[in-house]
Amino acid sequence: ARKLKVAVLGHGAVGAGVCSHLLAHPGRFELAPVLVRDPAKHAAACDRPLEFTDDPAVALAGTPDIVVETLGGTDTARALSQSVLRDGSHLVTANKAVVALDIERLNDLARQQGRQLRYSAAIGGGVPILELVDLLGRNGEILAVEGVMNGTCNFIFDQLKQGTRLADAVSEAQRLGFAEADPSTDLDGHDAADKLVLLAHHAFGVTLHPSQIEKESLNDLDGNRIRAVNEKGMVFKQIARCEATPDGRVEARVEIVALEPDHPLAGLVNEGNGFLVKLPQKTVSVRGKGAGRWPTAEAVFADIMDIQRSYLTGEAEASPVPENPLSHIRRMSTGQVA
Ligand code: HSE
Repeated sequence: ARKLKVAVLGHGAVGAGVCSHLLAHPGRFELAPVLVRDPAKHAAACDRPLEFTDDPAVALAGTPDIVVETLGGTDTARALSQSVLRDGSHLVTANKAVVALDIERLNDLARQQGRQLRYSAAIGGGVPILELVDLLGRNGEILAVEGVMNGTCNFIFDQLKQGTRLADAVSEAQRLGFAEADPSTDLDGHDAADKLVLLAHHAFGVTLHPSQIEKESLNDLDGNRIRAVNEKGMVFKQIARCEATPDGRVEARVEIVALEPDHPLAGLVNEGNGFLVKLPQKTVSVRGKGAGRWPTAEAVFADIMDIQRSYLTGEAEASPVPENPLSHIRRMSTGQVA
């Protein structure tokens, strides 16, 4: 099979991790210059055979087969996501904010061009929650989905309990690669709200706008409430939830909740994400690492490999690539909802 040309946009925690995976498969992928703001800085810090550019036209020259968007933010990233699909590349994105704003438009563009839009990494990192919800959602089985879907908040609650100052806990979450470039996105619930938009889309076929989702901020917690909850042995979590109401609406909110220690979501720490998918007869739970360079880069790479397999068709079975145990779920999920 021919090598696929891949353009990676962004070389932060996630983008650099994706480049490592791609460089480890030189027979399959050829890398275009990586799009960054400061090429000289990245070139000086990078000991791998990568080229950098600050010019989107250079990164995207010749219409790459696959474009991987890890820029973050919604201005440049949103415009580029639309234009690369329009130009005929497949798009793999970790940018939940852009997908949450544009899920229908991006899906339409992908469909019109016969290209794939994949965003497994946009929620839950390596946890296959989107695939699970997509599958169950297609059968109309889901009553509600709730979960801990922001690792930064987990980390900060733990640090506050240990007496760390909020500002120091936030800096450390950034250093660990959990927090967004603007960490208020994590603390104020915007990150979780973007993820809820994606979950609700796949679970219930609705397209919410992130601004419609009520959000409680970690910053609103007062010291007395924190102490009282700690003394009772309970734990704070940021819980995001969407559910179908009996009158046919979908309600979604992000809340700061004090959980009993034996609650199924109470034990998640650091980059741990956990989800409860409520069905009429049972609740399905799934958990794993949802933030940080490697869990996120691996989810992006799984999407890239799925696209590569679709080029190989029959050859895919003979491929030496280790089969992801959940790839049967992944393959059924096209990332596109009718
Ligand atoms: N900032 C996010 C988090 C990254 O802390 O969970 C993963 O989406």
